[in-house]
Amino acid sequence: MVENQQQQTLDSRGRPLRDLRISVTDRCNFRCPYCMPKAAFGPGFEFLPRSQILSFEEITRLAKIFHSLGMRKIRLSGGEPLLRADLPRLVSWLSELPDIEIALTTNGSLLAEHARALAEAGLSRVTVSLDSLDEATFSELSDVAVPMHLVLEGIEAAIAAGLTPVKLNAVIKRGSNDNELLEFARRFKGTGLIARFIEYMDVGTTNGWRLDEVVSGAEIVNRIGTELPIEPVAPTHRGEVAKRWRYLDGGGEFGVITSVTQPFCGDCTRARISADGKLYTCLFAHSGIDLRAPLRQEASDGQLQQLIEGVWQRRDDRYSEIRSEATSSPSESTPDKPPDKIEMSYIGG
Ligand code: GTP
Ligand code: 5AD
Ligand code: SF4
Ligand code: SF4
Repeated sequence: MVENQQQQTLDSRGRPLRDLRISVTDRCNFRCPYCMPKAAFGPGFEFLPRSQILSFEEITRLAKIFHSLGMRKIRLSGGEPLLRADLPRLVSWLSELPDIEIALTTNGSLLAEHARALAEAGLSRVTVSLDSLDEATFSELSDVAVPMHLVLEGIEAAIAAGLTPVKLNAVIKRGSNDNELLEFARRFKGTGLIARFIEYMDVGTTNGWRLDEVVSGAEIVNRIGTELPIEPVAPTHRGEVAKRWRYLDGGGEFGVITSVTQPFCGDCTRARISADGKLYTCLFAHSGIDLRAPLRQEASDGQLQQLIEGVWQRRDDRYSEIRSEATSSPSESTPDKPPDKIEMSYIGG
């Protein structure tokens, strides 16, 4: 029986299972070079066949089991989650879980058409990826012919639908969009939107990550803080990914996500499920635990619960901390070595 008993499932480092990030598709209509570079995700790339992707029924069943283990926040992601048909139906099923927050991370290009239905289905809020405010740089960074105004309209629609606070994610890459930091800060200050500047991470193996392209959170804060007076703000909850800063003039806040220079594994309460139903206990994991096979082989709720609980209890991951303790470059990929770390678009960020 997996009813709503108040339970705290702790991993081997004492971290509870609080968040579940569910990737609903591995496909995306963008080709951001840091995530799905065209060289690796071109026309020949084989995405997961439909039959291997979890159905909404399967996702909802798993979510209920995670909920029974203490999970209280779901983030739907992808790929681009709004490419999955009828997503509001899934949201409405998930929103029946007691005491649950449901968020969505999207590139925003399809948000204008779906925001209202998502809100009505019970979505709590959205985070929209937006890496540039300049049309030419935006095109370069999405690498497809989707105009920026669609994303801006998506953001407006999310606000109008009450999917707030709307957060904006900008991955900052040196020499690419770091010249826009202040423009970003000024543009969203005082609007109620929360800009979050993300250190470029060495996730996956296809993006050719280099440490010298990372702009540290400290540099980001410094560059904004020299022009606009700011002060740090306490986290809203234990394990919050972004470090918060607020403008002293009352213009709201922004965040920096410092996975590379100041890792936050110590408080990491996040489990991830890929679109094909594998459970990952770290964004940088090399492999996941298959939940789809037992789901489809008629495992009982109790058996699934035991499986997930056991995986979480054995969990020891702290990749970002280990990476920053290492003196050498974290990138393990070489042209001769097959890819080992999983891609962000597959695991859902
Ligand atoms: P909030 O609920 O608004 O705090 O969302 P979030 O920041 O947890 O989620 P979002 O999808 O907006 O992620 C922002 C950035 O942080 C992305 O680049 C994620 O890949 C990264 N991120 C999220 N969770 C983790 C994590 O557990 N480890 C690492 N290294 N990065 C993460
Ligand atoms: N480094 C940092 N953030 C990334 N994202 C995708 N790839 C990377 C990367 N290599 C971000 C996306 C999205 C979020 C889920 O993860 O921009 O906002
Ligand atoms: Fe870009 Fe997000 Fe699509 Fe990756 S999943 S290519 S970050 S829009
Ligand atoms: Fe959690 Fe792994 Fe990210 Fe560390 S690197 S915060 S353990 S997902």
